Amino acid sequence: MRAVVYKGPFEVAVENVPDPTLKHPNDVIVKITSSCICGSDLHMYEGRTAAQPGIVFGHENMGLIQEVGSAVKTLKVGDRVVMPFNVACGFCKNCQRGFTGFCTTVNPGFAGGAYGYVSMGPWGGGQAEYLQVPFADFNCLPLPPGSEFESDFALLADIFPTGYHGAVLADVSPGESVAVFGAGPVGIMAAYSCAIRGAAEIYVVDHVQERLDKASELGGIPINFDKGDPVQQIKDRRGGEGVDKAIDAVGYQAAAPGSSAAGGEQVEVPNIVLNQLIDVVNPTGALGIPGLYVPTDPGGVDENAKRGALSLNFGQLFEKGLRLATGQCNVKRYNAYLRDMIIAGKAKPGFVVSHTVSLDEATDAYVKFDKRIDGYTKVILTP
Ligand SMILES: NC(=O)c1ccc[n+]([C@@H]2O[C@H](COP(=O)([O-])OP(=O)(O)OC[C@H]3O[C@@H](n4cnc5c(N)ncnc54)[C@H](O)[C@@H]3O)[C@@H](O)[C@H]2O)c1
Ligand SMILES: [Zn+2]
Ligand SMILES: [Zn+2]
Repeated sequence: MRAVVYKGPFEVAVENVPDPTLKHPNDVIVKITSSCICGSDLHMYEGRTAAQPGIVFGHENMGLIQEVGSAVKTLKVGDRVVMPFNVACGFCKNCQRGFTGFCTTVNPGFAGGAYGYVSMGPWGGGQAEYLQVPFADFNCLPLPPGSEFESDFALLADIFPTGYHGAVLADVSPGESVAVFGAGPVGIMAAYSCAIRGAAEIYVVDHVQERLDKASELGGIPINFDKGDPVQQIKDRRGGEGVDKAIDAVGYQAAAPGSSAAGGEQVEVPNIVLNQLIDVVNPTGALGIPGLYVPTDPGGVDENAKRGALSLNFGQLFEKGLRLATGQCNVKRYNAYLRDMIIAGKAKPGFVVSHTVSLDEATDAYVKFDKRIDGYTKVILTP
């Protein structure tokens, strides 16, 4: 089958690789209809992780069941399904408590597994024609047949639940004011989820104009951090006050003000957003941090950053009595509810998708998405 294969920093290729096969009676093989490129893929693409050449990328996968293992109970050939980016068993201590992003079965020696991702286990990615899904009854979310809501449903694999998770981590509640840092797909979905949860005022910080425009479309207040300290801009609009809650949807590859928006070229300040969160939230508020931070970063700006050690204004955090929560999203905790919101017409996350292109055009899509040019905000690949 054809698949997107990582070749080395800033290089992917669409190549022929062996078809996945049923390896266990609980497996299914899914024929991919949509697989998204994620900001998380860019960390590997840019050589900013320990990823080795040869990985098939793709953790945001959706498709039709092609083959079913003999022990699978609830799925049949032809069913339309979307899989959480987390690979999970459903029965370990963490899965049982709903922490499917921290499954201890699927990636021995580590809590958490994913498709097509460095350090997340042996699972092949779905930017390909077919995907092996283990513990299939647990990992496949059934969808209505047909082709309706394809791009909305594809986002249930990661960014819609992850954005929602950001709002849950920050405990966003009706009537509150929120600052979301990052207007990439995760930030946009976090802002959208804050609106769903009834937030009154939602500030969205970035410096890519098309992305700030998307934030405005959903009623967010855009803040361009190239035009001045974003915390001060928010406080100026609020009579000197900060906000109730804040969400980091940027992660460790945070750009310095005025630097290029392109991943490989920007000047980075890995702790800038974390400290801005601490600064912008009012005393007793909360910070949600779905943005990714890594314990090993070969391209880190200094020795500390190379081992994921960042300097935080912890004294200010303590003095203000702030809470913070972070980590991979437990997609399974939210995906069925968010699916039902889409079906009921109460959520339409697909507005964030900027491009749907053929799998064969993946190389070009990676280049443009990485440079954040031509409006490349969220890309779906179709085999
Ligand atoms: N926790 C999880 O389960 C999970 C899941 C998916 C993605 N993520 C992570 O979430 C983050 C966002 O993902 P994405 O797909 O939206 O990525 P993305 O790279 O498309 O978006 C990041 C955005 O942040 C903006 N940005 C850069 N520096 C900034 C700064 N100083 N202040 C404000 N904005 C800044 C960029 O311009 C960009 O638009 C990534 O770190 C990704 O790895 C986490
Ligand atoms: Zn993703
Ligand atoms: Zn588990």
